[in-house]
Amino acid sequence: MAAALATLLVAGASAALAEPAKAVREENGKYFAANDAPTYNVKADGTVDWYTFSGYRRYHAECHTCHGPDGMGSTYAPALVDSLKRLSYEDFTATVIQGRQNVGGGKESVMPSFGTNNNVACYLDDIYVYLKARSDDALGRVRPAKRDDKPAAAKEAENVCLGAS
Ligand code: HEC
Repeated sequence: MAAALATLLVAGASAALAEPAKAVREENGKYFAANDAPTYNVKADGTVDWYTFSGYRRYHAECHTCHGPDGMGSTYAPALVDSLKRLSYEDFTATVIQGRQNVGGGKESVMPSFGTNNNVACYLDDIYVYLKARSDDALGRVRPAKRDDKPAAAKEAENVCLGAS
């Protein structure tokens, strides 16, 4: 019984660890890992997929003031380059949508909720895949020099999300 429980706990722990997110399939210019979470694609010549590039821009517009340039963290907020080694796609999106507050010990640490901010909520996958690429060391501390064109599917999803279809 104890052994079975220990096995279960170990299995649970390893399932919770985020895997390196190698792309195993592509759909309309968007890449997915074996666990079906969206992921990045960086070609040998450094060209990144559209979503990774878009995520780079969104991250630096909405998140870097607290989380530091390139996901490197600050004295105020954690390095998301490290967080994404641990957080699943679902953990990530839930945290960004809902936000999180840690108040106590004389220190207030607040992750705002972005659920109603369309500049973030409509681009969650983009920001995730950018940070995943950084976290897996597939992308350095640079603005991606070359990128794929914006897929028609990205434009459509954006229009629907922004309510401008
Ligand atoms: C106003 C500052 C601020 C902004 C802007 C901000 N965050 Fe945060 N974020 C925080 C703080 C502080 C924490 C740590 C909260 C805690 O202590 O639980 C955090 C935590 C997180 C976590 C959980 C990290 C972990 O290791 O568990 C994720 C994921 C995250 N933020 C993503 C984002 C993304 C993506 C954006 C941009 C859309 C963003 N944050 C914008 C302050 C911010």
